[in-house]
Amino acid sequence: MSLTPAFLDELRARTSLSTLIGRTVKVQKAGREYKACCPFHNEKTPSFTINDEKGFYHCFGCGAHGDAIRWMTDQRGLPFMEAVKELAQAAGMEVPAADPRAAKRAEAAKGLHDAMAAAQGFFEEQLGGIDGADARAYLGKRGISDATRRAFGFGYSPDGRGRLKSALKEFGEPMLVEAGLLIDPDGAEPDGGKTRKRDTYDRFRGRLMLPIRDIRGRVIAFGGRILGAGEPKYLNSPDTPLFDKGRTLYNIDRASPASRNTGRVIVVEGYMDVVALAQAGFADAVAPLGTALTEHQIERLWKMVEVPILCFDGDSAGQKAAIRAAMRALPLLRPGHSLAFATLPAGKDPDDLIRAEGPAAMEAVLAAAQPLVDRLWSHEQTVAPLDTPEQKAALKQRLAAITEAIGHPDVRAHYAHAFRERYDALFFARPAFSNAPRGQGANNAGRWQRDKKGNWKPPIAPVGQEARAIGATGMEQRLLRAILASLLRHPDQIVRHRETLASLQVADRALGQLLAAMIAASFRKETVETDGLLTILGPGEVYNMAKGMLRADTFTFTPHRMTTDADRVTRDLEEAIRVMAQGPELDAALAEATRRAREDLNEASYAEQQRVHRLKMDHESRLAELAQSDDIE
Ligand code: UTP
Ligand code: MN
Repeated sequence: MSLTPAFLDELRARTSLSTLIGRTVKVQKAGREYKACCPFHNEKTPSFTINDEKGFYHCFGCGAHGDAIRWMTDQRGLPFMEAVKELAQAAGMEVPAADPRAAKRAEAAKGLHDAMAAAQGFFEEQLGGIDGADARAYLGKRGISDATRRAFGFGYSPDGRGRLKSALKEFGEPMLVEAGLLIDPDGAEPDGGKTRKRDTYDRFRGRLMLPIRDIRGRVIAFGGRILGAGEPKYLNSPDTPLFDKGRTLYNIDRASPASRNTGRVIVVEGYMDVVALAQAGFADAVAPLGTALTEHQIERLWKMVEVPILCFDGDSAGQKAAIRAAMRALPLLRPGHSLAFATLPAGKDPDDLIRAEGPAAMEAVLAAAQPLVDRLWSHEQTVAPLDTPEQKAALKQRLAAITEAIGHPDVRAHYAHAFRERYDALFFARPAFSNAPRGQGANNAGRWQRDKKGNWKPPIAPVGQEARAIGATGMEQRLLRAILASLLRHPDQIVRHRETLASLQVADRALGQLLAAMIAASFRKETVETDGLLTILGPGEVYNMAKGMLRADTFTFTPHRMTTDADRVTRDLEEAIRVMAQGPELDAALAEATRRAREDLNEASYAEQQRVHRLKMDHESRLAELAQSDDIE
């Protein structure tokens, strides 16, 4: 029996989800949604929400998520067809009768599924056997653990024309050809049987095999990687009744449940990137199958999360692919749904990056992901020069073309507005350099300086020769990030602390750059608003990082993360910046007191050394408190 998507949509639309769920658990109205204690996990305060309008439930506690049909299968334990029948009856709808052709197709598909499952078993067995030695060594060389190998079902296709063909002969050649496992050299020929019949043979020979599975975990195709050099590097199954590569994503079966826990989906380019990511703890990654992302795949991703993160190589090919995906998404955009763009260091795929620098480096790349609107904005500024009035006007035209491509009217209106604001800020805003930094002493090291053109430049020389840089400890680095994130949200505060901030020597190059850029921006009046500040920072690395910090919604030290209480923000920032700046000072004081005590060897200098040491300890614990007070797990 086949149910059309239209039928299922109608069924969902006619079912009141809150009423349905209300039969089993007590639901309460809360604004436009309903709340309940989650029936899928044990809880006392309700974190289970029901949205009738969108037709789904979601639990913020355990991640349970689904629509009316899902409720019937997961909570009531009904098989899919039973769930549909029961809902249809309640909604007064007739379930379409079984279509004999569809039934036949389902029957044929079952045979193909069995053949694919058998092939998978065969390849896995070969990988474990004598013939699989080279493939096993290859996996070892790439650092793939046994657990990962099993989880992804790696296999090996032995080098011969008839190995699989004979192992799976019970399925019959026509079915193995249809499944894409055997190649029929006469298959595509128009004269069919007239020419002499040539033998069918194994498609995959001497390759490391990666099964491609559907959302239910059934093998529907294979990718086979050559073990050494050679062409093609990956040989993939052709499209078959089970496999349509534009509608499938590699690892969807494992990433889909994982994304429910993380609220994130990462899209990468290659099979092995997905595998490397999973092994490094990023279970929520998928990849298209060697083609650009299709509309179907974008829609599929949106079923998992509202804003999937597309991860592309920083080189020009990767960035072209990113823009292609961005453009393709425009007509499909709808409220809440978008794409984010993470950019890898040029020439590195996620697999390379993780191997070279570890999972933290990947985490950083993801944290700096740009929203679609920013990606498009920065792209349009780089495609052509913006020096002449005509070139500037041309930018406006390009932005208008992007806006026009957006299908949804509300989303389109917001893009138009966002682009207009940025455009105006870029070309029509007047920079105000009226607030020169105060307190220029005789010793100019570590102070802001004017260059020949009269522009203020950040300090080049360190504050004091012996003062160490901020961020030497993880705790300090955390607090620094928190301070920067907080200043990004409240840019009007930068001016108040400018001197202290400018005197900080920052260990992390990127954070140091962001701080310097924020200080430079603080001389302009637009800086009192986050958006204004961002416009000045962008586009580029510093801008990306700032966006990442804002988006991450983490790393702020105030207990009320998103507080709008201005006094509170001011006080918290003041203390955090003071404590931060004290670190190097105290270290220097302690070093000096210790040196004295060693030299003098008298009570007074011992006592002084102890006093400074206590100050240092107090400072450390306050630092730790500030840095950890509001960690999102
Ligand atoms: P890449 O060439 O970037 O390969 O292709 P990779 O994933 O980094 O592979 P390794 O690390 O060298 O093993 C990216 C993706 O493009 C498709 C595959 O899906 C691959 O994962 N591709 C590539 C093919 O389908 N055929 C090819 O010959 C090459
Ligand atoms: Mn690779």
